[in-house]
Amino acid sequence: MDHVLSLPALLTDRFQAVTGVDPELRPATKPQFGHFQSNVALRLAKAEGKPPREIAQRIVAEADVADLCEPLEVAGPGFINIRLRSDVLAGVVTGILRDPDAVIEQSADPQRVVIDYSAPNVAKPMHVGNLRSTIIGDCFARVLRAQGHTVIAQNHIGDWGTQFGMLVEQILVEGIDADSLDLDSSVALYRRAQEHFRSDEAFADAARRRVVALQSGDEQTRAIWRSLIEVSKAGFNAAYRRLGVLLTDDDLAGESIYNDLLAGVADDLSAAGIAVVDQGALVVFVPGDDAPLIVRKSDGGYGYAATDLAAVRYRFGTLDADRCIYVVGSPQAHHFSQVFAVSRMAGWVPSGGVLEHVGFGSVLGPDGKMFKTRDGKTVTLDTLLDLAEDVAAPEIAMAAVKYADLSTSLHKDYVFDADRMVATTGNTGPYLQYAHARVSGILRKADAEGWASDGVTVLDDPAEQALALLLSRFGEIVDEVASGLQPHKLCTYLFDTATALSTFYEQCPVLKSEGEVRTSRLAICAATRTVLAKGLYLLGIVAPERM
Ligand code: ARG
Repeated sequence: MDHVLSLPALLTDRFQAVTGVDPELRPATKPQFGHFQSNVALRLAKAEGKPPREIAQRIVAEADVADLCEPLEVAGPGFINIRLRSDVLAGVVTGILRDPDAVIEQSADPQRVVIDYSAPNVAKPMHVGNLRSTIIGDCFARVLRAQGHTVIAQNHIGDWGTQFGMLVEQILVEGIDADSLDLDSSVALYRRAQEHFRSDEAFADAARRRVVALQSGDEQTRAIWRSLIEVSKAGFNAAYRRLGVLLTDDDLAGESIYNDLLAGVADDLSAAGIAVVDQGALVVFVPGDDAPLIVRKSDGGYGYAATDLAAVRYRFGTLDADRCIYVVGSPQAHHFSQVFAVSRMAGWVPSGGVLEHVGFGSVLGPDGKMFKTRDGKTVTLDTLLDLAEDVAAPEIAMAAVKYADLSTSLHKDYVFDADRMVATTGNTGPYLQYAHARVSGILRKADAEGWASDGVTVLDDPAEQALALLLSRFGEIVDEVASGLQPHKLCTYLFDTATALSTFYEQCPVLKSEGEVRTSRLAICAATRTVLAKGLYLLGIVAPERM
């Protein structure tokens, strides 16, 4: 058997060789039905106009699965019940012990994957949208790297735009040393500059001239702008450290890096007849879309959309990406659908090149409305993390926040409920950490007494089998997250595994049992610890040895 770790996939292949269609194996609804069930005979019966049980009997007779399964059974109107042989399941678990890294299969077709995530804005506090993007993008980066893909993280920070004219001008007016600012004081400066811009016409004019100076590379202006970025970067990095995500300065690829490419984007789109002048602006009408995408504003300036067009071109053309994933809140779905459509029209996306926007919902307050502070401001990342740390130690608080973010399907809004999130019971990050710590504790005790693993040699109890079956599915689930980009599937899987582990403890004493049963159960524990640790790592959650 070459493909031990993906039993369901292997079984599917074997059945399909007989049925010609996907047998759609489903986990059995009751242990007495075995491990999987298939209703393929009922589906084929309709098409062939024969009794389903007769078809089921034929499949059972012809399917070449004796090396994997106990004799197959036909049940009820024509269901096929499939029970894996316990030596096969035991072999899978032993395989995890022998070669823990092989639980995640290396991709046969490693790709270069750009992931655009986090992307906070300079001189603005990181908000909950940036928090979600950071956590979700970090999970994708870990999953894809684990499969052997080359992940190119692109932190598309907001470090360019007309607001910098206003910021630099305010610094000069106030005579501040830009290097002495930090993220908080630059946020306060932003507010003063905005107020000043609204109330003082002369200042507004100076700010507009300052934008031109910035764009044309005026040295003093550029120096202050660079300082503002440094200050914010330090703030972002502090947040990344606190969150324990993999982003570094090497991943910074802010809006400003595309500045020199924008005119070329506009020119090429016009020359190709894709972009047209409409009321003084250069726009693209995307078929099937009422609103045009604005490439160049009527005042000659370029905005957010032009920058994203240049970014697509750069990512496929220069970074040589096969796949680009954008982890940005759902309100920007329309923006990305337009940018992607125009990029394809322009021929910047190679054939087979993938562009995906992974949107996500909002974080809601306890009242079920958009999460706001008492004085109505948007909640910053630090405030959120503080709320979780008020009720739990940092490592647990981070697990709680991340898991809450990743465990509901991304497009849904979720309520930030710190007390529920940090609970060590229920479907939470700390529950999984606890499961890992508990199994580590058992292995620590056994190690102290000395034991040698012979792999899994006894696997008779249904609770052992259920756990082993779950362990055998890990690679498949990781694969599913890598392709479908739905982290909650990994969360659900890990929660099911932790739950099966706790049932296993109840039904099958480990340290108190003896001889071969004991070493075999310890081996199951060790393999489960490996899967939990790797799974938590992929979610960006620390797997503690003790808790
Ligand atoms: N800075 C933007 C924001 O805070 C997110 C940027 C997302 N990435 C992109 N390529 N547009 O909303």
